[in-house]
Amino acid sequence: MAKVPEVLLVDQDPQARYELKQLVIQSQLGVVGESSFGTEAVSLATDARPDVIVCGMSDPPERALRTIEALLDVLPETPIVSYGWQDEVAIVRRAMQAGARDYFVMPIDSARLLDSITLVLEAEERKRLRMSGQTKSLGPRGLTLAVFGAKGGVGKSTIASNLGVALAGDLGQSVVLVDGDNSFGDVAAMLETHVERTVLDLVRDVDTVDRAELTEYLTRHDDSGLWLLPAPTEPLRWRSVTPDAIRKVITVLTRRFDVVLVDTAGVLNDFSLAILEESNMVLWVTSSDFSSINNTLLGLKALEELSYPESRIKLMLNVVSADDGVRPVKIEEVLGRKFFWSLPYDREVRMGGQIGRPVVAANPNSDGARSLIDLARSLTGAAPARAVKKSTPVRRLLNRFTRGGTAAAPVEGRL
Ligand SMILES: Nc1ncnc2c1ncn2[C@@H]1O[C@H](COP(=O)(O)OP(=O)(O)OP(=O)(O)O)[C@@H](O)[C@H]1O
Ligand SMILES: [Mg+2]
Repeated sequence: MAKVPEVLLVDQDPQARYELKQLVIQSQLGVVGESSFGTEAVSLATDARPDVIVCGMSDPPERALRTIEALLDVLPETPIVSYGWQDEVAIVRRAMQAGARDYFVMPIDSARLLDSITLVLEAEERKRLRMSGQTKSLGPRGLTLAVFGAKGGVGKSTIASNLGVALAGDLGQSVVLVDGDNSFGDVAAMLETHVERTVLDLVRDVDTVDRAELTEYLTRHDDSGLWLLPAPTEPLRWRSVTPDAIRKVITVLTRRFDVVLVDTAGVLNDFSLAILEESNMVLWVTSSDFSSINNTLLGLKALEELSYPESRIKLMLNVVSADDGVRPVKIEEVLGRKFFWSLPYDREVRMGGQIGRPVVAANPNSDGARSLIDLARSLTGAAPARAVKKSTPVRRLLNRFTRGGTAAAPVEGRL
């Protein structure tokens, strides 16, 4: 069995150390010791050799910063996570410059603490594997981004198809959009794409398909260069696609594309859970409608109970109705979380869906399109901002020959 990671707690305030210790214990992690700042921390760390050090930022932070630096002098491989009560960028930056790998703002709960520590330990492990050349055997893997929402009609397919077109078109990435809505998948219709092969064909051959043959199973959106894996044309045929099968499909696609986008149905069941588990990022969409907020609350809680890493979830507000007056900050209060993104109401967005031409292509200067293009950029860390140009035949032709080989930026489930 894997060893439980052991934590060294460093803070000059005994009460803060005590509280943090309780959180670490609740997170099912081990505590190897606790200490104040300075040489006591350094000698304890040298003896105890913790897997991770959690160090408080005092006010003023100088002693804490010097302690972090001194700890890294003796244990350069040991990740340090810092925390404090201030969420000012300046203090976070100073902690990072001293060598901390993460910073969380107190108070936090044990799940968030575990999440933060798990992420830094995973990053450390990847670094170790990279240094010893072992990561090659894992093969390259792109970003898998699921667009989910705990309700129908919140804009999942609209957002997924616009992101796909923005990423593949103007941002020049190799992208496949999987219609993973196993009720009434409609992405092909939103992109006005003629469907010949569907997810059923790839499911059938998924164990034997060659990377080079993959695009034979996909449909190309000519305007943007986005690849599409459409839903079956008869919805009942989804019944033959198991959660395991969709997992395999996603895995195969991640070996070929920079970004695998997956649209989903508005329900939390074994099928959508399989998709979420395969994704290293989940864009969780809610509208300001009461039942969408309520379902989001319940859904997030359910995922927390399943120990789904919270850091993979990016919460997004989509204002789908013109007469929507609920203030986002109120919804954030109810959900106990901040929105990562907010898409404004824009009738052009709706129009794009109706004419089969996503707004990012049909009307790239509208508010909705700008927001969606910026979202695509921030999710993937893609390309510097540039003016959005309308697709022209020459551009499309150039795209066709230049796209496809770009390496995925390393994504670790968070921005
Ligand atoms: N920001 C927006 N402004 C205006 N209209 C929007 C916006 N986002 C989505 N819509 C519209 O809302 C409707 C529902 O969107 P969409 O079909 O993408 O939702 P969905 O979550 O995929 O639904 P389902 O679960 O039924 O598949 C569509 O008519 C779409 O054009
Ligand atoms: Mg949909």
